[in-house]
Parts: sequence; C-alpha cells; structure tokens
Amino acid sequence: MSAKLIHKIELWAKLLTAAFRSHSNQQFYDHISDSYDDIFVEHKQHAVKIAQLLVREFAGQESTTQILDLGCGTGLLSNILSTRGFNVVGIDFSQKSLVLLHQRYPDIVVLNADVANLPIRKACCHAVVSLGAWRHFTDTQKAMDELVKTLTKHGVLIIGYFPPSYAGTIHQGRRPWAKFTGQFYQWVLRKLGYIDNVSPDLESHTIYLAKRYFESVDSVRSGSHWRLIVARNLRKCPHRD
Ligand SMILES: C[S@@+](CC[C@H](N)C(=O)[O-])C[C@H]1O[C@@H](n2cnc3c(N)ncnc32)[C@H](O)[C@@H]1O
Repeated sequence: MSAKLIHKIELWAKLLTAAFRSHSNQQFYDHISDSYDDIFVEHKQHAVKIAQLLVREFAGQESTTQILDLGCGTGLLSNILSTRGFNVVGIDFSQKSLVLLHQRYPDIVVLNADVANLPIRKACCHAVVSLGAWRHFTDTQKAMDELVKTLTKHGVLIIGYFPPSYAGTIHQGRRPWAKFTGQFYQWVLRKLGYIDNVSPDLESHTIYLAKRYFESVDSVRSGSHWRLIVARNLRKCPHRD
C-alpha cells in the first residue's frame, strides 16, 4: 500500500472517530481541528476564488475593507484574504479551531461565537464570507438576519460552496437518487447529534433568503463541480432597519 493511501485511510478513520465521539457540530470540529486542513483540501480552490472575487470588487481599497468570515475554522479563507491585504475578523464556535488559527496567523482577529448571535457592530463590514459552514447552520434564516445587520449599504455577501459534498469530501453529483442518499446521510448525522445539510435545495433556498435583502444575487462557478452565491447591495428592508 502506498504511503498516500495509508495517510488517506488514517484521515478517514479520524473523521469517522470524530463523528462517533461528537454530539454536536461544535464538538466535531473541535475533535478534528488538528487534521482539518489535511481532510478538507477541496476548500482551497473556493477560498482562492472568493479572494479573487473580492479583490475585483474592492480593488485598491483592500486595506480599508473589513471582512467577516463566518465559520472561519482553522483560517484557510481568512488567511488568504488577509494575505491579499484585507482586514479580516473570523468567527467560529469551535474554540480549538480558533486556537490553531491564532497560532498560525496571529494578526487575524478571531471571535468565539455562534452565527445565530453575532457580536459585531451594525453596518461595519464591507463583506461577509462563509465557506463550507452554511450547511451546518441550524437556522439559515436567522444566520442571514444576523449577517446582514453587520453589512454596509453596498456590502457583499459570498457563501460557498453548493452543492455541498458528503462529509465535505465526497462530491454528490446530480443523479436522481442524490436527494434520497442525501436525506439518508442527514438522518444518520442527526442521530449522531449534528447537522450537515447536503440537500440539493440548499442553494435555491439560500438564493431565496439572499434575495429578500440584496438587490443582486448571482450564482458563480467555482472549481469543476461547485458554485458560490454572491449577493451585492442591500435593499432598504424592514427586516434589517
Ligand atoms: C467545514 S468548516 C469550514 C472552515 C473554513 N471556512 C474553511 O473553509 O476551511 C465549517 C466551520 O463552521 C463552523 N461552524 C459551524 N456552525 C457554526 C455556528 N453555528 N457558529 C459558528 N461557527 C460554526 C465549524 O466550527 C467549522 O469550523
């Protein structure tokens, strides 16, 4: 057996052990924090794409642009954005992930909080990003309500990636049975105590939520199988004001 295959098997064993030891998303991400970057390697392409979109959006103003990274984990996306010159605040409820992030990238500000209750001033962020975390939020409506409060009038929201893959690693494809396998997968995870919404409908539902608050909402290609939702310019909206 090649060393690469043995390493893959070890990572899968770690993922499964963490899943069986955990009773919530928070515990799961605490348990896998030290192997996170080796397991979720696919995320890098989306992180780079998000950074490219934001550089285009805020060209020349990076150093005065404040970005909030929801579910920042161990800092993959936060670090790429910070390296491009943006000011980043990362939020995550996994304390162990944030400890790792802080050890690696001490200049990035982090807050240990749940997206359902963001400890951020109103209208102070120019962009909110969330990569690979939206699928875990118990109440995406509440998350959207919270995050829009933090955005400036011309704020940008980028959420990725869709459709989510099983366990963040196995691409689900668009086969007719994907909906049923997804439901079964989610049922098993709920029994274990945590949430991973891999429904093919998650993207359209998120677009629907974003359209209530933003004037423009697009779905942008990222990598060979995935898309990012990009929303711009807040509407004058009774839910926000
Ligand atoms: C798949 S990881 C993504 C991490 C990072 N964005 C990346 O792409 O590498 C999902 C992250 O979302 C965090 N998370 C999930 N639900 C959350 C919530 N309700 N509030 C705060 N963080 C949450 C988890 O702790 C985890 O670190």
